[in-house]
Amino acid sequence: MRQVQFLEAWSGGEAGQGPEQVVTLFRRVYGQEPEGVWSAPGRVNLIGEHTDYNAGLCLPIALPHRTFVALSPRRDHQVRLVSSMTPDACVQVGLDGLQARGVTGWASYPVGVAWALREAGYDQVGGFDMALASCVPVGSGLSSSAAMTCSTALALDEVFGLGLGGSDQGRVTLIEAAVKAENDMAGASTGGMDQSASMRCRAGKALRLDCRPGLTAMENVTQVPFDLKERGLELLVVDTQAQHQLNDGQYEQRRSTCEKAARILGVDNLRQVADQVSASRDPAAALQEVLDRLPDEVTRHRVRHVITEIARVDQFIEAFGRGDVHEAGRLFDASHDSLRDDYQVTSPELDLAVDVARAEGAYGARMTGGGFGGSVIALVNAGKSRDVAQKIADGFQARGFHEPRALAALPSSSARKEC
Ligand code: GLA
Repeated sequence: MRQVQFLEAWSGGEAGQGPEQVVTLFRRVYGQEPEGVWSAPGRVNLIGEHTDYNAGLCLPIALPHRTFVALSPRRDHQVRLVSSMTPDACVQVGLDGLQARGVTGWASYPVGVAWALREAGYDQVGGFDMALASCVPVGSGLSSSAAMTCSTALALDEVFGLGLGGSDQGRVTLIEAAVKAENDMAGASTGGMDQSASMRCRAGKALRLDCRPGLTAMENVTQVPFDLKERGLELLVVDTQAQHQLNDGQYEQRRSTCEKAARILGVDNLRQVADQVSASRDPAAALQEVLDRLPDEVTRHRVRHVITEIARVDQFIEAFGRGDVHEAGRLFDASHDSLRDDYQVTSPELDLAVDVARAEGAYGARMTGGGFGGSVIALVNAGKSRDVAQKIADGFQARGFHEPRALAALPSSSARKEC
């Protein structure tokens, strides 16, 4: 059996590797020094999946794996971009007259951020030269795109003097620009959790994000202690390498089913129903009453996932906080099962990875992110990650699936300037 590969973070064991790479690339392509280097992390969501666009709750942590950008402003409105993945292909795009969906490929993400900031009235954002390198696995449901848009947003904020990156409220504006870039320029649907995680997570903490509209930056985020070591645990991430795509219509379909259900139930969003259900004396009966008002089986399944999943977020925080690892793990399992059976966004690879992790003694395991491929997370005893990951890889080989890869997730810090 082949040994499963663990993807190390550049910012961890090999500190400095990220900034060094992008500075070297920048110098080689543009023949000068960049003004600075900024970075932003990928994320895993602990629990609260497909709840962000329902004004619900979610609980991401930032990964130690980050995207690095070296960047300098230009005097004109041209953007030049190069990535370490294709170091010989420099992309050039003009910002003047740029429209939504006007750029394709990976360039649409960083260019989209500049465009979104200008659309939001930050006219001082002009052209720039940028080099990018990342150790966040791409297409794995670990928010490599948010790591790219958020590192770019923070860099543009500083070089064009927007003054947003230093405060929580300012970061919310940068998050909105990153979301707009992904939705409207890249055409990839996203609900805001990933960009909030990349911009606002703290080391050692999970980010309890309340996605109700109209909350201030102080109200929508709570930093929740998430000390795995203290509990004798590790959080294993396994990337199934089954292609994860959020722009094939499935995500949008889930989203519009939820919006339609909210309209039928006479509320602005499903969060309002979730709050009513959890405040009632008999939540199970209250949930059933809500479901009975919905017109079809599919909608009932989707709504049941959203309402139960929102409730699981605070249940998880509470269980983990009091050291009840078994209950925390059970909630991971319940979340995955609900995503598999009610929301129907898992895949054979995700389900197998979760089943093997559970069989190998994980307290709980679930898919993380949008689903339809991507990654799973498993809560395991310290020192067990390698064994569990190997067993998953063996299971994949036996079923003829792609070879999976693993990562160790430690709650890390948000977007920052590196040098
Ligand atoms: C993707 C989206 C997020 C969120 C998750 C599901 O990662 O980008 O906004 O909706 O799916 O929880």
